[in-house]
Amino acid sequence: MLLEVLNQHGQFCSSLKLRISAGLWLLCATSVLAALPALVPRPQVLQTNAGVFTLCPPQAIPGLPTLAPTTIHADEVGRPSGEYLAMQLFKSTGYRFQVESNSGAAAVSQAILLTTNGALGSLGGEGYELTVATNAIVIRAPAAAGLFYGAQTLLQALPPEIYGARPVSGVPWTVPCLYIKDWPRFPWRGFMLDSVRHFFTKDEVKVVLDSMALHKLNVLHWHLDDDSGWRLEIRKWPLLTQVGAWRTDMMWNLNPRASQCWDGTNYGGFYTQAEAREIVEYAAQRHITVVPEIEMPGHSSAALAAYPQFACGCPTCYNGPYSLNVTSYVGGVFCIARPETMDFLKDVLTEVMEVFPSPYIHIGGDEVRFTNWQNHNLDRALTNSLGIADMQKYQGHFTQQIANWIKSQGRTMIGWSEIMNGGLVTNAAVMDWLNTRAVQTATNRQYVVMAPSATLYINKWETGDQNGGGVVFSNEPPAQSGFVPLASVYAYEPIPTNLPPAYTNYILGAEGPCWSEWIPSLLNLQFRMFPRLSAIAEVNWTAPALKNWMDFTNRLVVHKQRLTHMGINYNPSATPPQLGAWTPSLTPANYATLTWDITASVSAPGEINVSFCWKSGKHGLYIAWAALLENEVEIDRDTHAGYTGYTPVKPSYVLRLPAYRPGATYRLAASVKGRDGTDSHGIVYRTNWN
Ligand code: ACM
Repeated sequence: MLLEVLNQHGQFCSSLKLRISAGLWLLCATSVLAALPALVPRPQVLQTNAGVFTLCPPQAIPGLPTLAPTTIHADEVGRPSGEYLAMQLFKSTGYRFQVESNSGAAAVSQAILLTTNGALGSLGGEGYELTVATNAIVIRAPAAAGLFYGAQTLLQALPPEIYGARPVSGVPWTVPCLYIKDWPRFPWRGFMLDSVRHFFTKDEVKVVLDSMALHKLNVLHWHLDDDSGWRLEIRKWPLLTQVGAWRTDMMWNLNPRASQCWDGTNYGGFYTQAEAREIVEYAAQRHITVVPEIEMPGHSSAALAAYPQFACGCPTCYNGPYSLNVTSYVGGVFCIARPETMDFLKDVLTEVMEVFPSPYIHIGGDEVRFTNWQNHNLDRALTNSLGIADMQKYQGHFTQQIANWIKSQGRTMIGWSEIMNGGLVTNAAVMDWLNTRAVQTATNRQYVVMAPSATLYINKWETGDQNGGGVVFSNEPPAQSGFVPLASVYAYEPIPTNLPPAYTNYILGAEGPCWSEWIPSLLNLQFRMFPRLSAIAEVNWTAPALKNWMDFTNRLVVHKQRLTHMGINYNPSATPPQLGAWTPSLTPANYATLTWDITASVSAPGEINVSFCWKSGKHGLYIAWAALLENEVEIDRDTHAGYTGYTPVKPSYVLRLPAYRPGATYRLAASVKGRDGTDSHGIVYRTNWN
């Protein structure tokens, strides 16, 4: 079949067709019609030429003529990327390439060469050239990161099946002949993971890192503590994790069923320092820097639940007990007038810096409640002696001390917009989520990362229609309020329009934060991340003149195939697979069971995530439980109480199918009742499909 296609194109030459033992066709061609590769992010310079390079297996196949095998060659700097490439290629092709040492500059026949030899210094630390000819591939870059990005581009230039976890046959492993010269626009190309509200396991964080590497993103900003959890082992202060890592309520819209971190009583988890180091190392292999965030002085209820002696403590202050179970935090602010608080914070940051080699250390600094400081004699005494009346300035005074101390340790502090509310803090960079501090900071020649909540918070709703002044959201599992459609993310320009050109270099780049109050699982995280993080990758990488929405969405068609092969549960931005619907005539006034035949939507074992989505009617639908039936026998049930209506509450259910039986009938059952009437309409749809 493949041969027929190739011959129809009339481009098939010097190919070798072999029948291998499994009865599959193996093909090595050197010249077929080249398709324009759908690369994300789009490279700065891309020229395609006629012909293809074909990966051929490195090992001889017994009883068959010897092919010219493909090899991988690398110089010392290129070896890690050569090994990475060999590992990726092995997974899906089954070809086991060895990496041969080669410090030469010249292309090697039938080889993929990764080399710094002869590289253009002007490409910088992350740029690269990729040349694909029919008989050789060369990735040339001045530094290791560029060689890694060249390898990423090479993988994207192969068929999307290259991203599969297991060998696939029947795919022609060809790369179109091309020349690429590429470099990133910005040095900070980030994603923020909130491991506090929902705890992601170490292996899940690695999956996130792999998906970042695909996009040449290079900063994982890791939110490691907040009011509702402390997630990093600190040896000197063990209660931070013994107490602060566990809450007794799931909270928000998290679903106990979707979580690996709810044991029925406690919710949470933490990373040992050894685990965090393993993640740092895994990230470094992918040229990703992990920037840890430890919140101070606010958002600190979890730390204060563990060590209340660092709170203000006065008759009119909030004195605890600090609970991790509150969604609106009460007084989770350190008393910054106590010298022992400062010592504690330095102890914590010292261990954080031992684990994370990142040049930047994030100290949060957002949304500080000032009431305790205003009421506490120690803080009042300090503000009086400093001559500070304004609590924002008092926060600034604290932050400046921390910034200076972090600088003295050889690192740079970064904090959210509010750190500059009391005036400029020096020795510091800003992450501008409020879109208020970028210009002021950059014109003071201090660095800024753009993360505006209105445009780049990819935990918010992605799909919906503008309707009058409001937005009618489409069929997504509920998200934090706000509408961040893909097109707006793609159109985002990180350099503020009112920033004079002399200061644009102080904008380090942009980052997509993904807060996890509404994210119960890795699957749901991926639904929020992609494809919006693919757009953020292009915002950060590609020259604005080359960005084009139509072209991007065309490339996304192939890119989504890559995501699918990687097992990433992206948001298809289309109506998700509908499992069923309800109408007033079906809506019971008292709890009763509705069922829907979902056989057509079930084809494999694993999780089936379903969401109930109210569409119209005065009131919504209560859900007592949802269950999965196989041939009318119940095999799994999620029993949490949910509601779908104007303000949904946990309306997503997780059902597990241990073994798929072809030919069986699968039904979804749910016990539901209308709220204050039976006039509601809605649909039930599936929210994972890989
Ligand atoms: C934030 O969203 N509070 C940084």
